[in-house]
Amino acid sequence: MNILLLGSGGREDALAWRLRQSPSCGTLFAAPGNPGIARWAECLAIDPCDAAAVAATARSREIGLVVVGPEAPLVAGVADALRAAGVAVFGPSAAAAQLEGSKGFTKDLCRANGIPTADYVRVERRRDALAALDRFAIPVVIKADGLAAGKGVTVAMGRDEAEAAIDAAGDGPLVIEEFLEGEEASLFALADGATAVFLASAQDHKRVGEGDTGPNTGGMGAYAPAPVLTAELQRRAMDEIVRPTAAALARQGTPFNGVLYAGLMLTADGPKLIEYNVRFGDPECEAIMPLIEGDFAVLLHAVASGRLGEIEPPALASKHAMTVIVAARGYPGMPASGGLIREIEAAEQIEGVTVFHAGTALGEQGLVAKGGRVLAVTAIADTFASARARAYRAVDQIDFADGFHRRDIGWRELARENA
Ligand code: AMP
Ligand code: GLY
Repeated sequence: MNILLLGSGGREDALAWRLRQSPSCGTLFAAPGNPGIARWAECLAIDPCDAAAVAATARSREIGLVVVGPEAPLVAGVADALRAAGVAVFGPSAAAAQLEGSKGFTKDLCRANGIPTADYVRVERRRDALAALDRFAIPVVIKADGLAAGKGVTVAMGRDEAEAAIDAAGDGPLVIEEFLEGEEASLFALADGATAVFLASAQDHKRVGEGDTGPNTGGMGAYAPAPVLTAELQRRAMDEIVRPTAAALARQGTPFNGVLYAGLMLTADGPKLIEYNVRFGDPECEAIMPLIEGDFAVLLHAVASGRLGEIEPPALASKHAMTVIVAARGYPGMPASGGLIREIEAAEQIEGVTVFHAGTALGEQGLVAKGGRVLAVTAIADTFASARARAYRAVDQIDFADGFHRRDIGWRELARENA
C-alpha cells in the first residue's frame, strides 16, 4: 500500500519514521515533507492544503492511504475532498475538525452530552463578557473562540486581568470558563466513526523557559506515557469523555475519523476536558511513535476505512520515551534562521535515540535551521529516567550554536520517581 503523508514538521517526521517500519507500507510519499522526512519518504512539492492537488497526487501515485498530520488541511476540508474522491484518509472532515477549530462548538457539545468540562458561557460582545464575569470565581479563564494555536487563552488571576483580557479581545466570540484545578495530561485515541480506542498518553511542556516560565510555545518537550493518567483515569476519560464525544458527532451526522487528542485536567472530581485537538500533538507524537507496536499502517488504514472494531486494539511497548525540542534562538518570537546543525548522526549513535526534524532545510554548507522548533530529539528506554538521560546525552552531541533547549523536560515525572 502506497501512503501519502501530509505535513512538514517533527510530528510528521515521527509519523513517517513509524510508517516506514510497517511491513504493509509500500512507497511512502510526503507533501511537502522536510529533510528529516526525506530519510523515509519521497518528498513532493505540493501544498497540503490544496485539496485538488492532493487528490490528483493520490490518483497518480496510486495511494492507498493518506495520513494528515497538521490541522490546517483538515480545517480546509482536504479529508472531505479525498473521501469524496474515494481515497482512504486518516483525518476528520472539516465539520468534525470544529472540535479543534471552535471552542464554543466543543463546549456546547460537552454540555449537551453531559461530558465533564469546565462550566462556561459563550459571549459575543464586551458588555456581555463583563457581565458574565460575575458568575465565576477568580481565577477565571478567557478564551478567544477560533483556531488560535493556544495563544488566545488567558488564565486571569484577578478581576482586573480578566477585564484586560476581554478588552484586548475586543468584540468577537469569547468563551469564559471556570478555572479547573489539577494536573494536565493528554490522551490520544483513535476513532473511526463507530469505534474509539485508547492509543497513548503523554505530557508536554508548553512554556519556553525552565520551571515552566515565559511565553507559551507549541511545546518544548514531551514524554509518553504519562503515568499520572493511571489505568483507571484512562478508562474514565475514554468512557466519560472520548466515547461520548465520538458518539455525539456520529449522531449529528459528522462522524470523527482520525486521532482525537484530548487535553485533560485531572481534577479531584476526575478527568475533565480542557480542549480537543483533531490531530497528533507536536512534540507528543514524537514521544508516542517509538512506543507503538504492530503494523502502524494497518492500524491507520483500519481507522480510515471504518474497520477499527475488526482489528486488534493498538498495543504499546511497556517502555518510556522522551522528546526534547531544540529551538532556534528567539523562539517563540522571531527565531533566527539559517544556523548550521551538525552531529545529528553522532546523537543517533546513542542507543534508543532518533532525532526528528521539526524545522530544518538543506543549505549550501549542510543542514540549517528553518523555523522556531528545529529538532525533536527523542529517546526510548525501559525507564523514564533512562530515556531522559539518553535524550539529554543526544542533545549534548548536537552542534547547533544558534539553538537552545530546556534542561528540565520531565521534571514532574522525575520528582514523582524520586519521591
Ligand atoms: P487551551 O488552548 O484551551 O488548551 O488552553 C491553553 C492552556 O490554558 C491549557 O493547556 C491550560 O493550561 C490552560 N487552561 C485552559 N482552560 C483552563 C481551565 N478551564 N482551567 C485551568 N486551566 C485552563
Ligand atoms: N503540543 C501541543 C500541541 O500539539 O498542540
